[in-house]
Amino acid sequence: MDKQATIKFFDSIAPKWDEMENPKYTKRIASHFKKIKVKPDEKILDAACGTGILEPYLKEADTLFLDISKNMLLELLKKYPAAKTLRSSFESAKLPKNYFNKILFFNSFPHFENKAAVVKKAYKLLKEGGELIIFHSLTRAELAKVHGGSKETKKDAVPTQSEFKEMFLKAGFAPTKIILEEGKDGCFFKATK
Ligand SMILES: C[S@@+](CC[C@H](N)C(=O)[O-])C[C@H]1O[C@@H](n2cnc3c(N)ncnc32)[C@H](O)[C@@H]1O
Repeated sequence: MDKQATIKFFDSIAPKWDEMENPKYTKRIASHFKKIKVKPDEKILDAACGTGILEPYLKEADTLFLDISKNMLLELLKKYPAAKTLRSSFESAKLPKNYFNKILFFNSFPHFENKAAVVKKAYKLLKEGGELIIFHSLTRAELAKVHGGSKETKKDAVPTQSEFKEMFLKAGFAPTKIILEEGKDGCFFKATK
């Protein structure tokens, strides 16, 4: 989807997003956070945050919630009025370099058009030792089914593990610290700067 179509699509479904969440998938988020290990006050960017589904897991951190959809952020602010938000595409967001401890893309990465450029930008924004974590509460097959059900998202796919590895390495991430995992709780791809 191009940017305008993305905004139109997610603005239109934002008011119903939380109702549409499948509890079967939402329950799986906790298992990912056993590996994400949020530390108090660390700087986290929840890129493509939607309505703030991850907020309860990020309370202790200093989190910036970014999304391209105004309506998604409005829904987030109804639930969490004190949250720090930025309405922007990730690609054009003016953010400090070497700043974040973690950048998270949750259930959102397939929607980005130029995925390699997104990974490169994330690398620049992370501190040394910072982590880019791209994760899903759905398996690859479940995601293909959900995205296939709508004309707007049917082309939005999760890259293969070898595509992820190549993008991470090209961006400069440490080759020994790349994790590519897929299991019953979904997908978990992590690269460390
Ligand atoms: C499937 S939703 C997931 C939202 C949230 N992470 C969740 O799991 O509930 C994808 C989100 O990505 C956002 N998005 C898509 N492209 C974006 C971009 N280029 N920059 C920032 N946000 C984007 C959409 O507005 C939408 O809120």
